Amino acid sequence: MNSKADFPGAKSIAASISANAARLSDALNHHMRNSFQPESRKTLRKFHPAEVSELTGISMSNLRTRHQEGDFPEVETDSRGRRLYSAEEIDQIRRVMARTGRNGEAYLPGRRDGDGLQIISIVNFKGGSSKTTTAIHLAQRYALRGYRVLAVDMDPQASLTTMFGFRPEIEFAESGTVYDALKYEDPVPLSQVVRKTYFHNLDLAPAGLLLSEYETETAYALQHKVDPPFTQRLAIALDEIEANYDLVIVDCPPQLGFTTMTALLASTGLLITVVPSMLDVASMAQFLEMAGETVRTLEEATGPIDWSFLKYLVARFEPTDVPQSQMAGFLRSILLDRVLTTPMLKSTAISDAGMTQQTIYELEPSQVVKKTLDRILESVNGVADEFEKTIQQAWGRTVE
Ligand SMILES: Nc1ncnc2c1ncn2[C@@H]1O[C@H](COP(=O)(O)OP(=O)(O)OP(=O)(O)O)[C@@H](O)[C@H]1O
Ligand SMILES: [Mg+2]
Repeated sequence: MNSKADFPGAKSIAASISANAARLSDALNHHMRNSFQPESRKTLRKFHPAEVSELTGISMSNLRTRHQEGDFPEVETDSRGRRLYSAEEIDQIRRVMARTGRNGEAYLPGRRDGDGLQIISIVNFKGGSSKTTTAIHLAQRYALRGYRVLAVDMDPQASLTTMFGFRPEIEFAESGTVYDALKYEDPVPLSQVVRKTYFHNLDLAPAGLLLSEYETETAYALQHKVDPPFTQRLAIALDEIEANYDLVIVDCPPQLGFTTMTALLASTGLLITVVPSMLDVASMAQFLEMAGETVRTLEEATGPIDWSFLKYLVARFEPTDVPQSQMAGFLRSILLDRVLTTPMLKSTAISDAGMTQQTIYELEPSQVVKKTLDRILESVNGVADEFEKTIQQAWGRTVE
């Protein structure tokens, strides 16, 4: 009788799997190279007066008056004569207000003398718990609000990098990611890998597949006591450029490995995203237990790690889903005010925009049903604004 290996069908299937893989990969490479045009990078849309007012805190009437008085830079108008502002122009207006407005400082929310850089890791080892979505929306919202933001992609899957319009598998196949600054042999200054993005006030330290090397190299480095250890490597890399930013938002991979620990140990605060379902919450409990244990061990070796804040965000929330609402209530009853009051709602605007690598801040308002966009903007802005208070508190300021 024939053994399995001799069975002709088995052999041809195995062979065709390999052949399929090779053809797919060739075709994908070909497609990517042909469709990739670095010069056609993403650009950011312009903003309407109501949006400028919401972002800056300047009333619509004041905005109009100050334009008439010639205090603000003249901006483009649309076919109906309405002003349209670029993110950069919004920032210029903010600076004019800071110089001339009553209570001018309020228009510049970033660091002041003596304030430290805030480094915030978005973390959870549950895959698909909205980490990258949260990271990019917070980074963009804070950039639009006038903070100088660096987004750091610590996930070799590089979803955050891709959302910014880069093609890591082509552009950063050999170098150019945060790995270059973290690696143990000949690390480069982080400034060499940081890219400007099409978002004013927002830079990116990209990721790519190569970053997965960091995990194995760290295991080796620990055995051979290579200095500085993983516990300090991101903090040291960020030190070089810390004066250029107010906030660093770090997107972590869905594991609690050395890469995530490196991010956690460089952070001043943590935001844990959790989808309020039984499985997700159980998985988060496990994550917290493991993270707690690891941190305790590290603290015994290197002294206390002092985070300024730890918050939980209820993510991808569907208020009409009864079990989800119960689970969200359960989380709040146990984790109390560590859970942000505002949840990030589940919305087709986020998932649809995600398919074309856009955020809700990049969508043209005409691309989506207004009610859908307004609802999710209110939710995401609400999350960002509430969390902003935590950041301001870390700088010793209170925001009403
Ligand atoms: N509020 C939301 N509404 C609708 N879809 C969402 C929402 N948040 C996230 N998603 C979708 O869920 C998927 C997973 O989200 P995301 O990539 O942000 O999770 P993640 O935690 O970063 O995943 P990973 O663990 O793989 O890094 C994405 O397709 C995203 O578009
Ligand atoms: Mg992610």
